[in-house]
Amino acid sequence: MNTARLVRRPLETLIAWNRRYGDAFTVRWLVFGTGVYVADPEEIKAMFTGDQSGLLAGEANEPLSPVLGPHSVLVLDGPEHLRQRKLLLPPFQGSAVHSFREVIREVAAAEIARWRPGDEFAMRGRMRALTFEVICRAVFGVTEPERVERLRGALLAVLDLGWIFFAPGFMRVDLGPLSPWGRFKRRLRTADGLIHEEIERRRRAPDLNERTDVLSLLLRARDEEGRPMTDPELRDELFTMLAAGHETTATGLAFAFDLLPRHPEVVERLRDEPDDGYLDAVVTETLRIRPVLDAAERTLAEPRTICGYGLPAGIRVYPAIACVHHRADLYPEPDRFRPERFLEGRVESYTWLPFGGGIRRCIGAALAQAEMAEVIRAVVETVDLEPLRPEPEQVVIKGITMVPKHGTPVRVKRVASRARPGPASADCRAAPA
Ligand code: HEM
Repeated sequence: MNTARLVRRPLETLIAWNRRYGDAFTVRWLVFGTGVYVADPEEIKAMFTGDQSGLLAGEANEPLSPVLGPHSVLVLDGPEHLRQRKLLLPPFQGSAVHSFREVIREVAAAEIARWRPGDEFAMRGRMRALTFEVICRAVFGVTEPERVERLRGALLAVLDLGWIFFAPGFMRVDLGPLSPWGRFKRRLRTADGLIHEEIERRRRAPDLNERTDVLSLLLRARDEEGRPMTDPELRDELFTMLAAGHETTATGLAFAFDLLPRHPEVVERLRDEPDDGYLDAVVTETLRIRPVLDAAERTLAEPRTICGYGLPAGIRVYPAIACVHHRADLYPEPDRFRPERFLEGRVESYTWLPFGGGIRRCIGAALAQAEMAEVIRAVVETVDLEPLRPEPEQVVIKGITMVPKHGTPVRVKRVASRARPGPASADCRAAPA
């Protein structure tokens, strides 16, 4: 019953349990086993900042390893995790992300230029196409349209087999191209072939040393012992960044475009305010009220006391992002979408957690926020959108993320002449939710 409630209404359910049972509550899930949600920022801070040897995160992500590979930063723990993470972080910091903004603006402008007044589509589908393209260009460094399309076809064919992540051991047998695991393995081989081709092409690129895409930076990176990343490591991290980074950001944007047309005062202020302060607050508030992940996840490698309860080794602990974001003592009127709350005072640390925290904090956080800000800016500047459903979207679980149930269906009411003209696109109307 709990699992069914969580899948159908994750946000309301977790918030209600938090209000009823307090800052630490146990949930017994079907498939996932027993876990303890923790909604106290001080306890979460202790978990994210203290000694990490007793807290594992990669272990819980093991089901992802057939797709992401054994070197993926998401499935590793301990020193190996830290090594990969140190190599991956620099391309996602400060000036690097600044240089991605231009790419994001171009991709967003090209997308919007295809929209016509009267078009109806599910925003999540359009945003997914957009964020895929941003990852292709900014992370993989691939810009040629035909190569982007080849990668899109091959990589999404693997990621769209979402059930693979939950397949029990006995199904993981290749019985030929018609068997589910056989089909998956063949798709994976095609995708891997293309990724290795891109790695090889980039390694030989005469301008490798000047390039700023993540793959080029990773090819130039060296660990503390002066070792470069191996090809299997590069392959696994590229797949990881795509899997972790494109649907999540697309979902964040879909939530933003469910909220914004229902709050014309926010859209108006976005159009009036020339600086980025309010725009960033809109992104921050969207990720607060509609976090894409309900919780981070750690497995206790040793017993630990949390919120006064002694918990045994082996148990899952979930820093409860969604619950913390909806605490009325931290965010008055927590169910109201009010971006200005982030301009009015300092946000206490460990009270805004859409990207998790500590040594597992999301590597792509700055890129995701830049993407959300630039796309919201571009859409608000040039387009009026109308929600096709009268009520705000119900939040449901899809895979491991929270998504708008119908993918945020909208109608384009008006496109300002500032939008660059582009070819009318039939796929706008056919975009999947
Ligand atoms: C709105 C968009 C995004 C959200 C909400 C999000 C959220 C998260 C969360 C909650 C975690 C787990 C943190 C923890 O356990 O403490 C995570 C990890 C991660 N994310 Fe993101 N993410 C987003 C976008 C991205 C992007 C754009 C990329 C890369 C291109 C990315 C790459 C990663 C990676 C590699 C990790 C694993 C870090 C580690 O284990 O050390 N994410 N993300």
